[in-house]
This record gives sequence, structure tokens and C-alpha cells, in this order.
Amino acid sequence: MRKSFVAGNWKMNTDSRSSVELAKAVVAGSAGLAREKVTVAVIPPFVYLPAVVQAVSSSGVAVGAQDVYFEPKGAFTGEISPGMLKDVGCTYVLCGHSERRHVIGESDELVGKKVTVAIGGGLLPILCVGELLEERDAGKTEQVVARHLKTGLAGLSAEKVAAVTIAYEPVWAIGTGRTATPQQAQEVHAFIRKLLAQMYDANLAREMCIQYGGSVKADNAKELMAQEDVDGLLVGGASLKAEEFVRIIQAAA
Ligand code: PGA
Repeated sequence: MRKSFVAGNWKMNTDSRSSVELAKAVVAGSAGLAREKVTVAVIPPFVYLPAVVQAVSSSGVAVGAQDVYFEPKGAFTGEISPGMLKDVGCTYVLCGHSERRHVIGESDELVGKKVTVAIGGGLLPILCVGELLEERDAGKTEQVVARHLKTGLAGLSAEKVAAVTIAYEPVWAIGTGRTATPQQAQEVHAFIRKLLAQMYDANLAREMCIQYGGSVKADNAKELMAQEDVDGLLVGGASLKAEEFVRIIQAAA
């Protein structure tokens, strides 16, 4: 049985006070939920990581970072290394979020390097994959997702890939209020799992967690999670409201 995994990507939101308040509210709201059923993570901006790690300490709620650089240290002004993230208590790290790919301009190859060094540094990467609206309309969804998956996992052994969570996030559904239908999500999730089975092996593909992301809300979480290959949710906007995020976690548990 794959365990559900719900992560809240706060993006460039919150401040020093509200980040801690939100983290504590997530801890309080998810306290009664069986940890063996659902993994919960919050993903604050870099600067609030230490405070949020402290706010969730010994609660079972994990903390992730929104990005990472592929070098361990040195003259890379503005970047953050896997070792630094580990040092402040991060467990997870997003790699290749669509805003990094399409707003900041990260290449597929750069994303792949980040996944590799994140694993090497003892972090658990969440590799985000997903097509633009024009790519979907042109019938290229599978082609784009396959490219993101292959370049994102390039050079990794099956043993290492087991540390990765895949997040399918159709770009047209992110922050737009236009969620993929459960059927659309399931179709792509099944495709991803089939591809993982071809790239590695069927057992590994069966075990891997594939999250859906893109306008997830308390109201649609249950239906998305009911799909066979949807194992978790990567939540943006709705993760900034503690009560709504907790309802999403409950739906996934
Ligand atoms: P959203 O963002 O839930 O606000 O659509 C999801 C994401 O970008 O991870």
C-alpha cells in the first residue's frame, strides 16, 4: 500500500510571524491523524525554514524547501545547497516546480542535476512535471511529461529513484482555479507509473508516490485522492489557509 503524501507549497508567501502560526496550526490540525496513513509536509520560503522546523519539531510534520542548487558550496551568490537545507532540518525539496521552469527559466537538465544532488545530500526530492495549456491542446501532454521525467531522473539508479516523489502539476491548473478533472489526473498518473515501470521496474513503479498538484482544494481533494494512481497532493494557494489545508490532509488520510 502506498502511503498518502500531502505537501503545502507556500511559494513566496507568509512572513516570520505567519509562517510559524501556519506551521503550528497544521501541526494542531493534523495531530489526530494516523502517521502511518498520511505524510504531511510544509514548504515555506527559505528564510523561514529554521523557524518552521522549530514550530513543527517532534510533531511528525515534515519540512521541505522550494528549491536547491546543485553545488555543495562556493561562489554561487543567492543559491542554497543541499547541505544547508539538511543542516536546518529540511527533509524534502521541490525540484523543477513549474514556476521555476517557466517563470525563472530553469532547464530540464538543471532540474535533473538538482534532483541528483538533493538525493546525494540526503534530501527527498519532489520532482514536478507537467504540461502547459498549449502543449495539452496540441496533444503533447505525454511527450512533455515523459521528457520531464526522463531528464529529471537522468542517471539515477532504481535505488536512488525510490527516494523521489513525482508531482504531476499541469501548468494550466496551477493557481488558476481550473483543477484537472480526476479522470485527467488519473490518466497522466497512470502514464507516469507505466513509464517508471519501463525505466526501472514494475515493483518500484508500484511503490512510488505520485502527487497531483494544481488548484487542489478541500472540496476536490477527496475525489482526486480516490483515483487509483493519485497518491498525494501538492497544494499551493489552499495550503496558506490552515483550516482548508487540514481538511485536505483529512481527505487524503
Ligand atoms: P495551486 O499551486 O494549488 O495554488 O494551484 C500548486 C503548486 O504550484 O504546487
